[in-house]
Amino acid sequence: MTYNVNTAATQTASAPDRRPAPDQVAVEVRELVKTYRGADGAGFNAVDGASFEVRRGELFGFLGPNGAGKTTTLEIVEGIREPSSGHASVLGLDSVAEREELKRRIGVQLQAGAYFNFLTLEEILELFGSFYPRRRAPHELLARVGLLDKRGAQVRHLSGGQARRFSVVAALVNDPEVVFLDEPTTGLDPAARRTVWELIGEINREEGKTVVLTTHYMEEAELLAERIAIIDQGQIQALDTPARLIARYGRAGGVRFAAERPIDISVLEALPGVERAMETGSPEAGGGYGYELRAADPDAALFELISWRDGLGLRSLEVLRGTLEDVFLELTGRELRD
Ligand SMILES: Nc1ncnc2c1ncn2[C@@H]1O[C@H](COP(=O)(O)OP(=O)(O)OP(=O)(O)O)[C@@H](O)[C@H]1O
Ligand SMILES: [Mg+2]
Repeated sequence: MTYNVNTAATQTASAPDRRPAPDQVAVEVRELVKTYRGADGAGFNAVDGASFEVRRGELFGFLGPNGAGKTTTLEIVEGIREPSSGHASVLGLDSVAEREELKRRIGVQLQAGAYFNFLTLEEILELFGSFYPRRRAPHELLARVGLLDKRGAQVRHLSGGQARRFSVVAALVNDPEVVFLDEPTTGLDPAARRTVWELIGEINREEGKTVVLTTHYMEEAELLAERIAIIDQGQIQALDTPARLIARYGRAGGVRFAAERPIDISVLEALPGVERAMETGSPEAGGGYGYELRAADPDAALFELISWRDGLGLRSLEVLRGTLEDVFLELTGRELRD
């Protein structure tokens, strides 16, 4: 049973889509609260009433800034921490009462530094696999991420990207149905990040595993996740597909262009649908006089520009669209970036 969602820029046309039908629930969280004591002794809610569902086969992302409560939420779901109140379950198994059975059926990515220093990659996978009745062969997993020739090496001798690939694939050792990845690409360079994105896309699509990941990179959330929960101060501020979040909460789009001749701002602001026009100076490439239009309907503004009666002598033209960064700003009044 397969279904198609237009997601993961990583998907390849030829690879089969093995995701299960999304009509079953993989993760269910209801009114989750985790209270910690601050340095002053006062209690604060690191997770503050979060409720959400992840469907089977879904690639689900948690997007939020440092300290938002992403890891705490994930670890409660995984049965590693206990909630102060509320409920979490995975595949119908309660994260507190049925955590032992639950742990057999989920995969959790550990941070690279958390691996035993004196074991080789192969030995680590063998050791981890020995905890589970159902397991995958270390050779197969290492080959999966191009690390077979490193099977006798220790994690500390891998590059950052290799270590991260290893940590992702190590979460598959028990052939889990649901995989949890906490900031799988933080600290990686762009090339290594892309490789890990591809790996995550394949684990979801080709292996049919439900993937739940956290990130504070909006481009990662937008590229990988079918649905995103935006979390801030322990609360889920919004939950939807990236496109629908941007459509609902994103700023108006716009058009940036450069013309051969200067244009009066008041003339630009009089164009239908244009809310604001600004001079941006001459663009580095192409030259000319640069302008930016903010428009609720960038298509209409674009049409007006292109059909400009006397001709603009367009040197360059770019359509601007809303981003998850705008969505976060709109929802919380703050920037997502640190
Ligand atoms: N064991 C703990 N004791 C006290 N406070 C904690 C504990 N664990 C987390 N916190 C606090 O709870 C809040 C949420 O932390 P959490 O690690 O869940 O955030 P996060 O969204 O994963 O952040 P990051 O992006 O930095 O990983 C933070 O303010 C953190 O300091
Ligand atoms: Mg965290």
